[in-house]
Amino acid sequence: MALKRPAVYDCGVFFLSTPLFLNKLTGALCGSLSIFESMKNKKSIVTGASRGIGLAVARELAARGSDVALISRGGCDSQAESIAKEFGVRAFAYACDVGDSAQVQATFAKAIEDLGGVDVLVNNAGITRDRLVLRMKDEDFDDVVATDLRSAFLCTRAVAKTMLSARYGRIVNIASINGIRCQAGQANYAAAKAGVIGLTKSNAMEFASRGVTVNAIAPGFIETDMTAALNAEVHAKYSSQIPLGCMGKPEDIAKLAVFLASDDAKYITGQVIGVDGGLNA
Ligand code: NAI
Repeated sequence: MALKRPAVYDCGVFFLSTPLFLNKLTGALCGSLSIFESMKNKKSIVTGASRGIGLAVARELAARGSDVALISRGGCDSQAESIAKEFGVRAFAYACDVGDSAQVQATFAKAIEDLGGVDVLVNNAGITRDRLVLRMKDEDFDDVVATDLRSAFLCTRAVAKTMLSARYGRIVNIASINGIRCQAGQANYAAAKAGVIGLTKSNAMEFASRGVTVNAIAPGFIETDMTAALNAEVHAKYSSQIPLGCMGKPEDIAKLAVFLASDDAKYITGQVIGVDGGLNA
């Protein structure tokens, strides 16, 4: 496997011109760690971070002071560069298919070495391949399960040793409302996301005694490239069912992900939390 050399951007020089300056100021004025520094000195890995929810999570972690490693299938050098410049943290980028065991092992070993450890993993990468069962090919099922479920297992295993030895860790899995309240035409996706929920609970039990929490977020209908690909009729149908009256934004998921990744969430584990505008109420 050809492992892409990570792009490393260390931009402490942007201190005075970025939100980091305001972060420091707020913290100093309050005499304590400000919310903007709640992830300071943390080291986080986010999968599927080139766009959409994953990119929003990586940005939010960085905005709170965490160094970040961004992983996506096609790489995300420019996103890492922007994050480092904007937030004054270290940001690394890697190209990796998170459904492939050998690539995950090699990429995570490098990312943990580059970051100098890992405190937070957000398993976010995912795809859809919606079709009715009679038209669903073997590869439609296998590719979705590999990218959406197997990846969460592989990436979690790749950080587990470091987190368990450190007796600290936060793992946040991005599941879906469709792993709980399913739609026709998504046998592959619904099975994978329901699997992510099972994985979350089992891992939470396994890691709890070592201070590592594992939780899942179940987003509803969020404005990203994934949902933009749906046809207008499906879009209108889903949107009309949301009690809060509009689709969610990637940032709505990112805010909860970062809370679950923070020290403030230390007593929450094994949970599945919906961010869906009331869709699953
Ligand atoms: P997106 O399609 O905008 O972004 C997906 C990201 O995953 C991209 O960075 C892509 O490069 C990466 N990716 C895909 N396959 C990969 C692979 N094999 N290896 C590495 N990276 C890979 O998707 P979006 O909407 O941001 O979704 C993110 C997560 O949230 C997914 O797990 C999705 O199932 C979940 N979700 C999204 C909802 C929505 O309404 N957008 C609703 C519920 C869950």
